[in-house]
Amino acid sequence: MIREIVQVGDPVLRQKCEPVVKFDKDLCTLLDDMRDTLKKAEGAGLAAPQVGVPVRAVLVDVDEGFFELINPVFVWQKGEQYGYEGCLSVRGKAGKVLRPDKVKIVYSDRRGNRLSLVARGFFARAVCHELDHLDGVLYTDKADDVRDEDED
Ligand code: CO
Repeated sequence: MIREIVQVGDPVLRQKCEPVVKFDKDLCTLLDDMRDTLKKAEGAGLAAPQVGVPVRAVLVDVDEGFFELINPVFVWQKGEQYGYEGCLSVRGKAGKVLRPDKVKIVYSDRRGNRLSLVARGFFARAVCHELDHLDGVLYTDKADDVRDEDED
């Protein structure tokens, strides 16, 4: 089921999200709804607070695959990349953000299995952007030169 994506100005986007403790049917419903919502919006990622639920769960949908990252934590971050990103909660804008080029995280899947992954390039950028959402941080806090998407 598609849920409404909350927009900047909503306090839920500024909350520190709570860890997921129950890997139950409610979590599966949330993740399934987030997936439907992300696919419809054609985004690269979506965090639970963006559908109004302040828990530590995000989706990342990139060339490398579709990932559900629950209670994700950085193991390390390496290098730098500087490039444009946008956010489904900040419609019509894009801004240039400095991010690590390569990251390793540990996370749980929807069954509660603890896993890890290494991401680089745009995948790493998407992971960093989504994990920031879990601490109430928006890319616009870090970006310089936030502009309208259609502007040259
Ligand atoms: Co975002």
